[in-house]
Amino acid sequence: MTAHPSSEVNTAVQTAIDACATLPGALLPVLHGIQDSLGYIPAAAVKQVAEALNLSRAEVHGVVTFYHHFRDRPCGRHLVEICRAEACQARGARQLETHARKRLGCNLHETSADGGVTLEPVYCLGLCATGPAVTIDGKLHSRVTPERFDRLLERNA
Ligand code: FES
Repeated sequence: MTAHPSSEVNTAVQTAIDACATLPGALLPVLHGIQDSLGYIPAAAVKQVAEALNLSRAEVHGVVTFYHHFRDRPCGRHLVEICRAEACQARGARQLETHARKRLGCNLHETSADGGVTLEPVYCLGLCATGPAVTIDGKLHSRVTPERFDRLLERNA
């Protein structure tokens, strides 16, 4: 969960800008590129992206904060996402989320104290009929009860 050195941030941001700056609506692909590379969008990236795309810092910051997908701080060693959309809610996602928060000792958008797990909400993973749905480091899991959540966490995180 450590921040990257500024030279690494600068290189990752410039690489994303070089790859996407000429695309229509370049801001989102650039931000995705940065997050794919660094795991989050550092504050320094906002200024660099704004200047490269001729946008204000407020515009870039607004997009970063609008989309739940983007993080503004480093992620834990593992990323757990719990689906909060309606079908999963009807199948027990709310109880699962309560269990996960208690088990990890952190809220959504936060990382456990040992830096092991960042807990994020997602809104539909395409497994609506077999929810509650969860991803652990990008791998999909369905029918996740609190007990199954604990087993998955022990195995994967
Ligand atoms: S509602 Fe959760 S996967 Fe679709």
